[in-house]
Amino acid sequence: MSTQEKSIQTYDHYISQLFAAEDDLLQATRAEMQQAGLRPINVSASGGQLLHLLALLSGARRILEIGTLGGYSAIWLARALPADGKLISLEIDEHHAAVARRNVAQAGLATKVEVRVGPALATLTTMQQAGEAPFDLVFIDADKDGYIAYLQKAVALVRDGGLILADNTLPDEVLDTNADSGTKRYNAAVAAHPALVSTIVPVLRRQGFDGLTISIKRALGA
Ligand code: SAH
Ligand code: DHB
Ligand code: MG
Repeated sequence: MSTQEKSIQTYDHYISQLFAAEDDLLQATRAEMQQAGLRPINVSASGGQLLHLLALLSGARRILEIGTLGGYSAIWLARALPADGKLISLEIDEHHAAVARRNVAQAGLATKVEVRVGPALATLTTMQQAGEAPFDLVFIDADKDGYIAYLQKAVALVRDGGLILADNTLPDEVLDTNADSGTKRYNAAVAAHPALVSTIVPVLRRQGFDGLTISIKRALGA
């Protein structure tokens, strides 16, 4: 581990122990994921707290997540919802979805969280065609090559003034101007989008740091 990584870990620990201490249910969720053979690629606790805070800031009553895994980020987000709030999370893998549903139920959030299984782009198209009510917040965290397509759907499905968040948006490729990646293309698309005001917030992780792109959708012509 490099000196830089060691100090990033220390800073992350400092933030997490003050603001993002995991309770038993979040710890159990990670343990269940490990038991079930899911890779630990969930957001960190401090990343989860950032999502939770943004959900509260936006007054979110309806949240859309793209990429469920074992339900870890869904729990952080759903805990910001009011009693009648709803989070719909999209997941391609039936096994991941089953683990997530179990974790969400354990956390007492079964009535608020719904996991829909299938390729996210197809599910999003169905939702759009079905006239799904607008979301206050969309969190994109599935396959990185899909991010651009998810952005178009997210802009359509989020309300004016709502938030679109995307995980893993400071990939190593940003250091190499010639390297391409799904999340670099996502950042460029967001920056060029006339309806979005955005930035990237660096997020500390156990290993190095990553980024969360935060966009707010403003009403065009207002
Ligand atoms: N948000 C989770 C981590 C998600 S990891 C957390 O922080 O806890 C990415 C997830 O996206 C994986 O579970 C993977 O199976 C799922 N995924 C990958 N491609 C997908 C697709 N095309 N549609 C829906 N989900 C997809
Ligand atoms: C990967 C995916 C993620 O969403 C993440 O936060 C970290 C890693 C991955 O596919 O490797
Ligand atoms: Mg991620």
